[in-house]
Amino acid sequence: MELSRRVFIRRTLGAGVLALGVGPLLSSCSGVQRSHFKPSGFSIEEVPELDDQSIAILHYASLAPSGHNSQPWYLKKMGRFDWVIGADPARRLPVVDPQNRELLLSIGAFVENLSLAAGVYGYEMQVKITASKPEDKEILRVFLKREKVNHYPLARIASRRTVRNGFKQEEIKKNDIEKLAKPLEENFAYFPHSSEHGKRLAEWAIESFRDQTNRDEAQRELASWIRFSDKEAKKYRDGLTPASMEITGLSGWWVRKFWNPKDVMKEGFRQKGIDGTAKIAREGGGWVIVTSTGEKVSDLIETGRNFEKMFLLARDLKIAIHPMTQMLEEEKWRTEISKQHGSKIIPQFVLRIGYLDKYPEPVSLRRPVSWFIKV
Ligand SMILES: Cc1cc2nc3c(=O)[nH]c(=O)nc-3n(C[C@H](O)[C@H](O)[C@H](O)COP(=O)(O)O)c2cc1C
Repeated sequence: MELSRRVFIRRTLGAGVLALGVGPLLSSCSGVQRSHFKPSGFSIEEVPELDDQSIAILHYASLAPSGHNSQPWYLKKMGRFDWVIGADPARRLPVVDPQNRELLLSIGAFVENLSLAAGVYGYEMQVKITASKPEDKEILRVFLKREKVNHYPLARIASRRTVRNGFKQEEIKKNDIEKLAKPLEENFAYFPHSSEHGKRLAEWAIESFRDQTNRDEAQRELASWIRFSDKEAKKYRDGLTPASMEITGLSGWWVRKFWNPKDVMKEGFRQKGIDGTAKIAREGGGWVIVTSTGEKVSDLIETGRNFEKMFLLARDLKIAIHPMTQMLEEEKWRTEISKQHGSKIIPQFVLRIGYLDKYPEPVSLRRPVSWFIKV
């Protein structure tokens, strides 16, 4: 690869880092978080099967959100720019997501980031859905074709994150709602927190969270994705860390040092989660429901892609997005919600949204590209 292209890739990877500011390196204070691995983003990871451009594109793809940060994707290289994207069976969430609905939405978000990043490196992405059932391992095939470079700001992908605290009570302005709704069109609905439906959603969010928290098998599954200690976080680079759950300061230190997955099953942990949810569910500007008109693999991939487009726009508007998914995972609440809509409108995301004074830097971890390549 000629030097200039390598320098360009380094610079674009660096752009994401500089936009965030190089984060605190004192992991003993804050716990392991994404910025501690970031300086390595200045140099390109060595992956023998891939060239530098592919590694950079896949790095951005992997910054997509996913349920429990399970990062359910894997990649199989068929040709230089001909990739199979699959769902890793070990990364499924069989208890809370038995139909792989959330898994496919997460892979959709991954594909959207992939497409945006490919555009910056001068490629157009074409996608062919290959899975016929949600439980298929191979989901889709991606082809990159040479095209004109576009100038999508990659720093936006690198600085997007899920935010759960610090929402302002102000309702979302009409013109911001119009901007956010654009990628999803009629599959987007906003309910201000003061509206009847907004108030009802807050109550459902709390009650469905309570139901799920009291379900031992769901709690056990959650526990298997929590990385309490720095050692575990560094080893797996996925799941939920104290920092990504927004347990910070002295509490964060305590949790990292003394808690382990068994504590997730204890009454005290469950009650803390319910109390925290009850507090935040009533904060913010309101709720967004993302729907789809179908439930096929292609519908879910498409919805995941459009959801990610919206999430990235929200980042620029300093609007926090917090998926509160328990309502769609717990039978009783899912049935309740379906009763309110016709069968043609299928809810896929319930999101609490709100303006922030300051958009915090991302902290959730990601596996390096070489960890999700299957040969
Ligand atoms: C399908 C899906 C469901 C999610 N459900 C929840 C949820 O119920 N509660 C929550 O706090 N975060 C939820 N999230 C956010 C993830 O936990 C988050 O994306 C992941 O930890 C990575 O963090 P990041 O978004 O800051 O990069 C969900 C995300 C996705 C894509």
